[in-house]
Amino acid sequence: MSTTARYPDLNAKPVLVTGGADGIGRAVVAAFADQGASVGFIDIDAGRGEALAAELAAAGATVAFAAADLRDIAASGAAIAALSVKLGAFAVLVNNAGHDERHRFDDVTPAYWDDRMAVNLRHMMFVTQAVVPDMRARGGGVVINLSSTSWMQGSPGIIAYTTAKSAVIGFTRSLARELGPDGIRVNAVTPGWVMTERQRAAATPERLARAQERQALKGEIMPDDLAAMVLFLASDGARMCTGQNYIVDAGVV
Ligand SMILES: NC(=O)c1ccc[n+]([C@@H]2O[C@H](COP(=O)([O-])OP(=O)(O)OC[C@H]3O[C@@H](n4cnc5c(N)ncnc54)[C@H](O)[C@@H]3O)[C@@H](O)[C@H]2O)c1
Repeated sequence: MSTTARYPDLNAKPVLVTGGADGIGRAVVAAFADQGASVGFIDIDAGRGEALAAELAAAGATVAFAAADLRDIAASGAAIAALSVKLGAFAVLVNNAGHDERHRFDDVTPAYWDDRMAVNLRHMMFVTQAVVPDMRARGGGVVINLSSTSWMQGSPGIIAYTTAKSAVIGFTRSLARELGPDGIRVNAVTPGWVMTERQRAAATPERLARAQERQALKGEIMPDDLAAMVLFLASDGARMCTGQNYIVDAGVV
């Protein structure tokens, strides 16, 4: 972890992370496990998910994994219910899953558009809807939604993705008002270009150099840098933070 901060209130707290098998989600799952939280995570990649759960459990963490495609709302609901039976009523939800698959504007079909919304936006609504009754019963909770700076920059070649990721901010703003009276805080975390395994594999020396030119801080943004922000927002340290967007991009936008 890139942070040494400890949050005692996260110890033994049931936490749900979507898309937790790889990349930023994986770092978030590991960071909560390191705080002693009871971490449940959902991913479409059963192999990676089971391997991560086994690795963390071997290190003494309380962790549970359920495989599901978050585009399938019913399957996602069943996965959440199964994890909640194992870990308890969720107090924290991190809506992290997403995919920035490239697409040409001219090639986008209605079916492709709908699929990108399902991958990058729709599950946030329905996973939250499934978890909120537990949070209400607990007397409060935290929801954290992953956006992206790509929509702020108007990045081309991913119009369905940028549209969905900008909507994550509108969703966050309204959800904070919807759920604030229940003691549930809702915030967005917006990464710049984060060096996950998948992003590193797609990086060219030219793209890496251009990113460094644009960043105020020189150096790579790592998944742990996002996990550090997520942990803080999930903790009682952020008890009066809601409806906001926290950007971790080394100073680009
Ligand atoms: N890495 C970056 O530079 C970056 C930048 C801006 C925003 N983000 C956002 O951060 C979040 C995490 O991104 P990442 O870079 O870690 O991605 P990643 O591809 O490394 O990991 C995403 C995880 O989500 C899972 N997933 C994808 N679609 C799913 C589905 N339909 N059902 C269940 N699981 C699914 C994948 O299997 C994977 O384990 C995403 O919302 C992404 O849009 C990332």
